[in-house]
Amino acid sequence: LTGERIIVVSNREPYIHIRKGDGIEVHRPASGLVTAVEPVMRACSGTWIAHGSGSADRLVTDRHDRVAVPPDTPEYTLRRIWLSKEEESGYYYGFANEGLWPLCHIAHVRPIFRSSDWQQYREVNQRFADAVVREADSDDPVVLVQDYHFALLPGMIRRALPKATVITFWHIPWPNPESFGICPWREELLEGMLGSTILGFHTPFHRKNFLETVDRYLETRIEHESSTISRSGSLTMVESYPISIQWPPPWQDRQPPVAQCREELRRELGVGPEHLVGIGVDRLDYTKGILERFRAVEKTIEQHPELAGRFTFIQIAAPSRSALEDYQAFDAQVHALAQRVNQRFSGEGWQPIILKAEHHEPEVVNRYYRGADVCVVTSLHDGMNLVAKEFVAARDDEQGVLVLSQFTGAAHEMHEALIVNPYHIEQTAEAIFRALIMPQFEQRERMRSMRALVRDFNVYRWAGRMLLDAARVRQREKLSAR
Ligand code: G6P
Repeated sequence: LTGERIIVVSNREPYIHIRKGDGIEVHRPASGLVTAVEPVMRACSGTWIAHGSGSADRLVTDRHDRVAVPPDTPEYTLRRIWLSKEEESGYYYGFANEGLWPLCHIAHVRPIFRSSDWQQYREVNQRFADAVVREADSDDPVVLVQDYHFALLPGMIRRALPKATVITFWHIPWPNPESFGICPWREELLEGMLGSTILGFHTPFHRKNFLETVDRYLETRIEHESSTISRSGSLTMVESYPISIQWPPPWQDRQPPVAQCREELRRELGVGPEHLVGIGVDRLDYTKGILERFRAVEKTIEQHPELAGRFTFIQIAAPSRSALEDYQAFDAQVHALAQRVNQRFSGEGWQPIILKAEHHEPEVVNRYYRGADVCVVTSLHDGMNLVAKEFVAARDDEQGVLVLSQFTGAAHEMHEALIVNPYHIEQTAEAIFRALIMPQFEQRERMRSMRALVRDFNVYRWAGRMLLDAARVRQREKLSAR
């Protein structure tokens, strides 16, 4: 990848500058997208265009709205786009997160489609397209478009820069045609996405759903053999590219030993060295199955009373999209359930669930991964879920067990995890218990193969495969134009 100058476009920015007292703090957001794409961007040079969302963002950018990042060792340019309150409300909160997010996740939250949000979504996509044209230093740039905030952007870039290579990655699931078909603007969205040279999904299943959706709603030619769609002379290759994380992990050489992380974690809980600890790390989002997880923790203790006072589950939950009603309601439910479960066992003089509903920097989260006995991922539906891969990457001691929802992309790859249906509380509880009593040799065997997978199929491979496929498609287009 080195030397490939690229333009990345995403809604969320990789570094957020925040006012703190008299100074400025830099935050790394809780976003699977940012976790994956940032190391790729550091390996290449180029420009990342994103929404400037931090309270001190404007204080550090130059007059072209650019700032060099990472702040300590600058390697690429972050170009910030400022959105008005109305734009943010219609495009980000409205169409992207009340419309497309529930539409694609099928977590039984009804999508809301407002024409006014759609209007903002289109306009903001156009603003980002204009920024791509301004940032491009040739007429054939390589542009990496990220996620459901920008379904229309590939088509807009294609119109302005016909020779551009547009690689779009959809970080969330793609539903079946019937489910997607309820969106009033389904044709426009699909047409916009087909401006891409490469269109990537996490799993073959999501890729298949997309091809069937296009087949149902657009007049196109789909070549199943090569997985390409041709439309008005241009080709889009639709493929699955399971996303991953940086390997070796960024803090490989400067993280405290596992024994120290275990000890610190137990000291924080005020318990002894034999105390068992489970960990969950998510954004506070209704797709993550946090309520089901707490019920499973409750069931585990109910069925194995000997765990009372000997097992604690720590849930790190980063506040997310909290301006939206569905998220506020979910936040309240999560707090209420944690409290109910804790009260139920309060006589035992210990709390089974510790809910930490605040932002934690990735390095801090890494220490929790290293100190825990089991990591529980119970998403009701998730494109990939990088927490599963981060946990495995954190465990260079080859210990620790992963309990993983079958509805994550990660479950298609990480077969050595204990795979569960998160809606099945008893099954999840059984898996948590099995994890807590698993012999060390079995933990090692499972962890070893999962670590080998994350090492070999790391995020550089993910990006490299897409860039290579894009080069092939461009070549094919050139030959057929002769
Ligand atoms: C998911 C999405 C990302 C998004 C992240 C955090 O992983 O696929 O695009 O950045 O959630 O959500 P937020 O709305 O805070 O950016």
